[in-house]
Amino acid sequence: MIYFPDAGQMKAADRYTIDVLGIPSLELMERAAESCVQIMEAEGIDLSKICVICGSGNNGGDGFAIARMLKEKKLDVELVFIGKEVSCTEETRRQMQLFQKVGGRISNTYEEKEYSVIVDAIFGVGLSRPIEGKYFEIIESLNRSKAVRVAVDIPSGISADTGCVMGTAVRADLTVTFQKRKLGLIFYPGCEYAGRVFIADIGICTEKMEEDAETVFSYEPSLFSELLPERKPDSHKGTYGKVLIIAGSKGMAGAAYLNALSAYRTGAGLVQIYTVEENRMILQQLLPEAIITAYDSYDEEEVRGLLTWADVVCIGSGIGVNECSEKILEMVVKNVQVPCVVDADGLNILAGHPQYLEGISAGQFVFTPHLKEMSRLTRIDVETLKSRRIDAARAFAEKYPVVCVMKDARTVVACAGRQTYVNISGNAAMAKAGSGDVLAGIITGLLAQGKDCFEGACIGVLLHGMAGDAAKVEKGSYSVLARELADGIAAVLSRK
Ligand code: ACO
Repeated sequence: MIYFPDAGQMKAADRYTIDVLGIPSLELMERAAESCVQIMEAEGIDLSKICVICGSGNNGGDGFAIARMLKEKKLDVELVFIGKEVSCTEETRRQMQLFQKVGGRISNTYEEKEYSVIVDAIFGVGLSRPIEGKYFEIIESLNRSKAVRVAVDIPSGISADTGCVMGTAVRADLTVTFQKRKLGLIFYPGCEYAGRVFIADIGICTEKMEEDAETVFSYEPSLFSELLPERKPDSHKGTYGKVLIIAGSKGMAGAAYLNALSAYRTGAGLVQIYTVEENRMILQQLLPEAIITAYDSYDEEEVRGLLTWADVVCIGSGIGVNECSEKILEMVVKNVQVPCVVDADGLNILAGHPQYLEGISAGQFVFTPHLKEMSRLTRIDVETLKSRRIDAARAFAEKYPVVCVMKDARTVVACAGRQTYVNISGNAAMAKAGSGDVLAGIITGLLAQGKDCFEGACIGVLLHGMAGDAAKVEKGSYSVLARELADGIAAVLSRK
């Protein structure tokens, strides 16, 4: 597992290392600074004219130590201190003195000069409010510089919790972050502002954070194959689950096709599609491996029979929002006894009928909203959702209680009582119609093979992104079609 701390967790880990393990804070600063210098050298950054910009918090202290170490190497270092001396932490004050002891001079004004590199040590994880005033002017000005920009721990102005820009932020070419990649370096736009990220191990103990229920994690993509359900030599189609896909409406046969194809490609044993009569022939031809059952109008007994048959249900992709689809969805949500994935129009219907969810069993449903669908479900606008992704997904997952897969470039998977997953696979080639239908099918395929709803959702999201990465290798960033993501599933799974 890879863990991504927020600012509070990182500060707590820092404190624990200092207070309990007895590693002095100044020693941590020395290690942080040493690693920054080493990485700049190893990356071949032109160190002929250096500017280090420091704030008054401990991030500034790291900056003073970096400047001293570079000065000791007889390099041309200018240090600009833009914090307030009275607000300096004890450690930063000490580092300031050490810098002065080696002959370092401190300026309080930043001038646009031809620096080869600018080290940003203005704010680290302690940023607590939007950037304003002189800080704003200076950050904008150093973003105009042609120098290479190196951020210490996190670019100043990026929230370590959300990745949001707090007013303005340093656009770094590279960021040296300490011990763990902070959440704000995972989410957009923070991860773009950070440039290339290097993680330096400076001995901060993060074990407590790793056990914390509030922690956000991701799977190590290199260990992906260990997460997959087993294929037993002595097995048959029933071993890998009977999948019921309720999807598609007139003109939307593709949604059902992509759901079903992806469930099969992920390893499901038998897939049945329940769709409108108009789609029968199309789907039969597109996917002869699937059973097609079609309807003209709502038939309660037929739906009941299908629910009895299925080991897992996926409902919603392309079903439309109309009287018939509403009735089918209500029937399914209230009666289904097996794991159930709800996608797309299924979620749009629920946004208008939250009462269908009253009394649902915890951990039985996976909802896969993109941000707009999430906004409809929660009545929270998309911009607010972006600024509090983890909290929003968790609150939703607790309220209903379902596994909430909040889709975006960094999809978040939340479930009450579990650590929250954030996905780091995938790419912009996947931003195409049908991509979500593929994801719903993948997750359903994993549930059919016995994964629980939370694990199936997390592994599914990871696999979906990896399939997108494989498809991009074949078709590039522009031309990938959703059905080729299903080919990507095969490419990824055949590596096992
Ligand atoms: N505008 C102006 N000032 C601001 C703004 C803003 N928008 N936002 C925050 N500040 C000020 C505040 O005064 C804040 O101090 P406060 O929390 O006392 O109010 C200060 O900036 C925060 O400065 P940071 O340097 O970002 O935060 P912090 O002092 O917590 O240090 C840290 C961050 C631990 C250095 C981390 O980013 C890092 O680099 N870690 C590497 C390891 C290390 O050096 N550890 C030494 C730890 S020493 C110790 O923990 C005691």
